[in-house]
Amino acid sequence: MSVADLPKVELHLHHEGAAPPAFIKQLAHEKNVDLSKIFDANGGYAFRDFVHFLSTYEDATSVLTGPEEFARLTTAILEESAKNGVVYTESFISPDFCGGGDVGAWREYLAAIQEAANAAEAKHGITLRGVVTAVRHFGADKSKTTAHCAAETAGDFVTGFGMGGDEGQFTQGTFSYAFDQAKEAGLQLTTHAGEFGGPESVWDAIKDLNVERIGHGVRSLEDPALVKELVARQITLEVCPGSNVVLGLFPDFASHPIQKLRDAGVKVTVSTDDPPFFHTTMRREYEELSRAFGWDASDFAELNQTALDAAFCDADTKAKVA
Ligand code: HPA
Ligand code: ZN
Repeated sequence: MSVADLPKVELHLHHEGAAPPAFIKQLAHEKNVDLSKIFDANGGYAFRDFVHFLSTYEDATSVLTGPEEFARLTTAILEESAKNGVVYTESFISPDFCGGGDVGAWREYLAAIQEAANAAEAKHGITLRGVVTAVRHFGADKSKTTAHCAAETAGDFVTGFGMGGDEGQFTQGTFSYAFDQAKEAGLQLTTHAGEFGGPESVWDAIKDLNVERIGHGVRSLEDPALVKELVARQITLEVCPGSNVVLGLFPDFASHPIQKLRDAGVKVTVSTDDPPFFHTTMRREYEELSRAFGWDASDFAELNQTALDAAFCDADTKAKVA
């Protein structure tokens, strides 16, 4: 059996960012919206760099306008993930894109997503949990509304709170109110840091937002004291090597710091981030890591155990997935 056939636990997947281009194209066609500028000649998503990626992402998301469409999207995502051997996944879902911050509308989107997830679980044996996500470049006020939506719906399905978006905008600490509110509601916390921001953004995430996981965090290696801190606090990194390579952080898998982080004792996991944007799947991530670093089934078993330990779900769910 190839390592790519192993069952996989994924912690870092953007719900809208997992939308297949054909799915978005079809919606744009149905709604008479011209989105041709976001697609390349091969029908994939087109973007030049990270900031352009974010605007392409938001243009694609603009045609996802109702709970029913998010249900269809959820079905498509989970079918694809299950095909790649994923047995448990968490996705980032933003009230900003699901009802614009209105709690009543957000509940309707969530109900539709959850219903689709339940059906996918019964059909494909894949479990989904939701991490409600603030969009950093939308600013602090919006993040408070997002945290309010998260707190109102915290429970069996909504188990986490996080933040993505442009790391070049604002400091992590700008969002401490939202993260505190989410934590008070019982949600577990993660934020994107140390992807385009340097090690200081990871320090800020730990100190100002009290997160237990970091989205990416790969630039932590630039600061040995930070690496020690991550180990001491047992913070888990949601590493997305294929995403990092496409966005130009590292030239290829072999140059990716995941091996060095792991050697230093940092808890690392592997995810796809926005798979169709970065031309990847969990299966491909495993294949590339195996090729680059010689990882075998025991390495991936350890990786998956780390991911399951750090998953934002209860012990019963973890036992069921394991
Ligand atoms: N990084 C940061 N923010 C995002 C991403 C990402 O990959 N996808 C959607 N928002
Ligand atoms: Zn991400």
